[in-house]
Amino acid sequence: MTAQREYPDFVARFYDVIYEKVTSGEDVKYYLKKMRETEGPVLELGVGTGRIFLRAIEEGIDIYGVDNSVHMIQSLKKKLNKKHHHRVEVQDVKVLNLPMEFNLIIAPFRMFSHLIQVEDQLKALNSVYKHMRPGSMFIFDLYVPDLEMLYKGLNEVQDFEGEYENGKLLKRTVSASSDPIKQITYGTMKFEWEEEEGKIVRREWNFQMRYFFRYELEHLIARSDLTLVTIFGDFHEGSLGPESKDFVVICRK
Ligand SMILES: C[S@@+](CC[C@H](N)C(=O)[O-])C[C@H]1O[C@@H](n2cnc3c(N)ncnc32)[C@H](O)[C@@H]1O
Repeated sequence: MTAQREYPDFVARFYDVIYEKVTSGEDVKYYLKKMRETEGPVLELGVGTGRIFLRAIEEGIDIYGVDNSVHMIQSLKKKLNKKHHHRVEVQDVKVLNLPMEFNLIIAPFRMFSHLIQVEDQLKALNSVYKHMRPGSMFIFDLYVPDLEMLYKGLNEVQDFEGEYENGKLLKRTVSASSDPIKQITYGTMKFEWEEEEGKIVRREWNFQMRYFFRYELEHLIARSDLTLVTIFGDFHEGSLGPESKDFVVICRK
């Protein structure tokens, strides 16, 4: 079973309708607040279809975005006024190369867990560093590993069923199993949807996600050019504790 690293066309196509329903939006509020508090340009890594980016543009924030999936960027551009198209482009964070520096860089919604190898994680952190202005911040989030989930895995759990456009049904099921030595979760998402004249289409996406523990993150950042400020346990900047579901990591140049 080969994993496709970049998000494929059907994942990009249904991303908004699914994540509108399955996420709380707490992270969107948090990142928007951080952007409002920032003077100067902001960069979103793994900008996706613009779940956060488009809200920032609406507020007049000077935001730019990169993503390594052509399909995600295409989907974002369809919704973005042409005068802002220069703000987004296909780039891989490991080799980020933009002709400007930023006052805030963010990597929301577990973007960083797509970086499987330690060398790639360090390349990404150091690329971020090169694009930061003095005194600027880099903020990213990751899920706190759920040990029971890692142990038991998921077997064809349907996490979405609904209309993706008038009268046309979409279903998604998710399976996952984890390797505790490599700290990789191997996931499969199965999509099934109705096209014209009731035709049913099925597609499957195999992907990998790297999970991180608290001290690993601390050591990783210490090995990079960045300086760790703190790791919060939620999007209200509460302390990390046994109930925490998210790592919210704050670094500075
Ligand atoms: C979970 S999505 C988050 C999208 C968006 N930030 C949001 O909050 O909805 C993660 C995004 O990271 C992108 N991504 C994964 N690996 C990447 C890489 N190496 N460089 C740039 N983008 C990457 C994916 O294509 C995807 O759009």
